[in-house]
Amino acid sequence: MTTPEAYSHFRETLDYIRRYFKGEAEVGIVLGTGLGRLAEVIEKEHQLAYNFIPHFPISTVESHFGRLIFGRLGGKRVVAMQGRFHYYEGYSMYQITYPIRIMKLLGVHTLLLSNAAGALNLSFNLGDLMIIRDHINLLPENPLRGINLDQFGPRFPDMSSPYHPELIAHAKTIAARLGIPLREGVYVAVAGPNLETRAEYRFLRIIGGDAVGMSTVPECIVANHMGMRVFAMSIITDIGDPDNLKPVSLEEIIKVANDAEPKLTQIFVELLQGL
Ligand code: HPA
Repeated sequence: MTTPEAYSHFRETLDYIRRYFKGEAEVGIVLGTGLGRLAEVIEKEHQLAYNFIPHFPISTVESHFGRLIFGRLGGKRVVAMQGRFHYYEGYSMYQITYPIRIMKLLGVHTLLLSNAAGALNLSFNLGDLMIIRDHINLLPENPLRGINLDQFGPRFPDMSSPYHPELIAHAKTIAARLGIPLREGVYVAVAGPNLETRAEYRFLRIIGGDAVGMSTVPECIVANHMGMRVFAMSIITDIGDPDNLKPVSLEEIIKVANDAEPKLTQIFVELLQGL
């Protein structure tokens, strides 16, 4: 929950980061499960491990590195999170979205989010890329609960276009030029960490979801609160077909995400170039 202490936390975090990174960042990037290698193409200037950054939560999931990377990508100054924080790890929504607040204070105006997700739309295939056009938030806590951080944004932020239509249009043009097929749809965020039952996959499809995952929506809400432009893309790592559900493991999810990652990286880099 946000409390008045948030502002002094932010100041302490920034004081630390400013010892290493003096400039302004323009674009924030969050790398999802199995997607950490996108960081390899960043021309790195500084890397800060989360566990040394004051007030940063420490990533507990093995499939995620935990560091903040400062550098250049697609000609833009970026700050990338290699490893994100999930609700199922036990963090509060304030902790999960804390780095996004810090990105804003470093100058970030555009946020690119990525994740691994299960398909609810049964026309999707393993390894497909899905642009998130809209979302449904089924997480049990909202990152804006608590006092409103008035210096960042309004009490009741508008969510009529949480994912920026121009960035979506631009990504589609890029993908068409590169010959990368793209899906587009609604992402449903759930708490996890268990995957869904057959009845749950069926329910999530009925309520309007195309893909389901355990992240992204908290970061998107906080970024919208602060007036950032958001673009998000899912890699479809498993198929939530209620009538034909197969057991999936984290290893399989990571493998599919890894295999599809180069396509996502290409789109992110070109999107950055066009900003
Ligand atoms: N459900 C929830 N989260 C996920 C899934 C899924 O099927 N696949 C990857 N993340």
